[in-house]
Amino acid sequence: MRVLVAYGSKRGGTAGIAEVIGAALGDAGMEAQVRPVEDVAGLRGYDAAIIGGSLYVMRWHPEAHRFVRRHARTLRAMPVWLYSSGPLDDSASRQDIPPVAQVRRLMERIDARGHRTFGGRLAPEATGFPAAAMARDASGDWRDLRQIRAWAAEVADELADAASVR
Ligand SMILES: Cc1cc2nc3c(=O)[nH]c(=O)nc-3n(C[C@H](O)[C@H](O)[C@H](O)COP(=O)(O)O)c2cc1C
Repeated sequence: MRVLVAYGSKRGGTAGIAEVIGAALGDAGMEAQVRPVEDVAGLRGYDAAIIGGSLYVMRWHPEAHRFVRRHARTLRAMPVWLYSSGPLDDSASRQDIPPVAQVRRLMERIDARGHRTFGGRLAPEATGFPAAAMARDASGDWRDLRQIRAWAAEVADELADAASVR
């Protein structure tokens, strides 16, 4: 099973989550390809996709959003999961945080199988407005590797089940 793990990431945190997901899918016997959405020309050859985007002011990374809209018809015909990242505290580890409205609409459009919000990361030396100001109060790495791996393993299980009944 060939799975695309594509992401839109401004400061690298969401990219790191994609790498962890890709490695976990590999451990589960899947062939995962991890790519920034900007580098994915099409979905030919993939059996499933996981697409992630960082959250900025309650909106998904614009390239991730554009990617899903552009390929909506193809994505609708395959198993797809989305993830978002993420809160700069431990809230995403403690509870299921639903997708923001924009991502919920994308999920409806492509009939996505599921969504997960993971904690985010903001480096203390982040630059730009208002990131630098935010970093003074809220820097840190809240990505929960165990939670990310467990979610990827769940997705792999669902894909394996779907493949075995085909
Ligand atoms: C200006 C700014 C706005 C943000 N807005 C949100 C938000 O609305 N919701 C959220 O959960 N996280 C928000 N965050 C946290 C980011 O999503 C987090 O830093 C994430 O890991 C960034 O991903 P990236 O490194 O892939 O760009 C914001 C961060 C910044 C700097």
